[in-house]
Amino acid sequence: MRLAHLELTDHRNLAHAVLDPDPHLTVLCGPNGQGKTNLLEAVWLLTGGKSFRGSRDAELIRRGCAFSVVEGVFESGGSEKTIRLTVGSKGSQRPGRTAKLNGADQGRAAALAGNFQAVVFEPDLLALVKGGPEGRRRFLDAALCQIYRPYLVALRRYMRLVAQKNALLKSYDITPNAGLLLDAYNEQLAGYGGQIMAHRQRFTDALAPAAAANYGEISHGAEAFTLRYLCCAEAPTGQALAEKLAAVRGSELRAGFCLAGPHREDLDLQLDGQPARVYGSQGQQRSCVLAMKLAEATVAGELFGEHPVLLLDDVLSELDDDRQTYLLTRMGEHQTIVTTCDTAAFARTNGKIVYVKGGQASETPFA
Ligand SMILES: Nc1ncnc2c1ncn2[C@@H]1O[C@H](COP(=O)(O)OP(=O)(O)O)[C@@H](O)[C@H]1O
Ligand SMILES: [Mg+2]
Repeated sequence: MRLAHLELTDHRNLAHAVLDPDPHLTVLCGPNGQGKTNLLEAVWLLTGGKSFRGSRDAELIRRGCAFSVVEGVFESGGSEKTIRLTVGSKGSQRPGRTAKLNGADQGRAAALAGNFQAVVFEPDLLALVKGGPEGRRRFLDAALCQIYRPYLVALRRYMRLVAQKNALLKSYDITPNAGLLLDAYNEQLAGYGGQIMAHRQRFTDALAPAAAANYGEISHGAEAFTLRYLCCAEAPTGQALAEKLAAVRGSELRAGFCLAGPHREDLDLQLDGQPARVYGSQGQQRSCVLAMKLAEATVAGELFGEHPVLLLDDVLSELDDDRQTYLLTRMGEHQTIVTTCDTAAFARTNGKIVYVKGGQASETPFA
């Protein structure tokens, strides 16, 4: 997977910008608040995923404009492909994110999943180890949505059913035929939930050994990192989830909301048999994140057949020398785009430098 060309119109603070990334390393540099992360975000949007900044679609459009356009040309499977992503503001003719692939309409941007693949590292990722389960589920879901379109479909339907079932559980006593309705929801939840669980299991089975190996390399074997999928049922199947839902039925009626299912699952992260969240030092936790994200890229590459583009937002400055060197070495193997305020860290590499200032990008320094 290689991004060859990117052109932006009215994306965030970038009125018009062109980027021709290096096949290996591109360094977006400039002071704070100039548009480096915005440029990286635009590359990410080509995956069809929502912004890694967690912002709403409308925020992607440059203030005062009706549309933003991100167009990327990339090489995949030996051929060149073009993605054109348009974000329309609320009152515009075509609100939301819509996409074209090689000129053909794809409808919603999410339909792009499985074409352009990227993995993002950003400073907030420490939450993957330190934070609650929802961050780890988001990690799994973001990776799987990119690899399998059907996963995204199953996840959306599942989450909608959870909301509907929660509403039912809240007004159970005053809803006619509530019991039958609950049976119907549970049956559908088991179907979509089972698909989600099977994919999560398969993905983490591949991820765990890769993450453990990466951690070993980063820490020179100082301690062992293990990653395990904590499935909500006896097995990652629709049948097992159906049994689980039947078992918690009474408790759910008392609680008034859904108590079991993939929307409450987690990953168990351990260092030498202790929870990494509690026992890991800040440095060890950073190593866990680095090991997991690089493993994600490797596994996505194996499942998809091509290694994703690595997008690194301001992460290098947070790592110590050893970890920086490790990351820089691993980066060398695949196309990588990084942002930094401090070009010194990249003096050791021969990456292409792109200067970003006031919403403009240039291969020559600004005066
Ligand atoms: N929709 C938007 N329209 C115009 N400017 C925006 C929009 N969204 C964000 N910005 C601006 O982009 C700038 C931040 O850019 P960013 O890429 O995060 O900077 P950095 O170079 O530090 O990574 C801020 O000045 C912010 O006000
Ligand atoms: Mg930034």
